[in-house]
Amino acid sequence: MTLNASGPEPVRPTANGTDPNAPLVKLRGLTKSYEEAGTSHIVLHAIDADIREGEFAVLLGKSGSGKSTLLNLIGGIDVPTAGEVWIKDTCLTCLDERHLTLFRRDHIGFVFQFFNLIPTLTALENVSLPYELRRAGKKETEKKEAEKSARNLLERVGLESRMNTYPDKLSGGEQQRVAIARALVHRPLLILADEPTGNLDEDTGQTVLKLLLELTRDAGKTLIMATHSPEVVPYANMVYHISEGKLVTEIEYQKAKQRQ
Ligand SMILES: Nc1ncnc2c1ncn2[C@@H]1O[C@H](COP(=O)(O)OP(=O)(O)OP(=O)(O)O)[C@@H](O)[C@H]1O
Ligand SMILES: [Mg+2]
Repeated sequence: MTLNASGPEPVRPTANGTDPNAPLVKLRGLTKSYEEAGTSHIVLHAIDADIREGEFAVLLGKSGSGKSTLLNLIGGIDVPTAGEVWIKDTCLTCLDERHLTLFRRDHIGFVFQFFNLIPTLTALENVSLPYELRRAGKKETEKKEAEKSARNLLERVGLESRMNTYPDKLSGGEQQRVAIARALVHRPLLILADEPTGNLDEDTGQTVLKLLLELTRDAGKTLIMATHSPEVVPYANMVYHISEGKLVTEIEYQKAKQRQ
């Protein structure tokens, strides 16, 4: 892989001076199962994990192992069968639907495989939206502030000439760059990326990946990425595998493989 990333960095201290080793994301006994034809299909089984602020964590696992399920649980898109998700001091799984929606909107940025841009909004409007929603009903000056932040980010991802273009006129790579800008614009605590290069050719995927890593690192954000691409591994602070419903670290995974 020819990504020009400088590799894992030490965990940064948090802005408010709290313990830099305190996890940003805590998973406790996290379980997800589905009932199918009277039998329970357990996808994730009693997962405990901590992910620290500023980390880039990669989730590997074969198709159907539960990567998207886990990201959706961490992001409050889905609810677990049992267990808890904590983000900083908030127990996500304790929140009611309304507060969960607000938390998600304000503190989490998502990058999906299929971009999920709003087709009736331009690139600039798509990127401005999370910032505007976070400050809904506030002054005109804040709307301008949203637009300024969105413009800055679109420039960072090299789309300064496509700001007023609608998603259907953008290539896949351009759409994903818009989605990356959108995920960061409201300065979330956490970015979740589910196969962000899965729908792109190799070169475009590398460009997109490089931007995602650079932007999250520069902003000091925590990034959790589900991927099938092992070439991302050298850039990660933590690598997890989902195997038989469990989340295992790279070291545990390799040891288990040697025992087989
Ligand atoms: N709504 C649902 N009802 C029943 N089973 C489901 C549901 N959603 C997901 N599953 C099952 O959960 C398991 C994990 O799915 P998930 O989408 O998390 O896998 P994944 O690791 O993201 O796979 P991929 O790499 O293909 O994206 C699969 O066996 C899937 O069939
Ligand atoms: Mg998936």
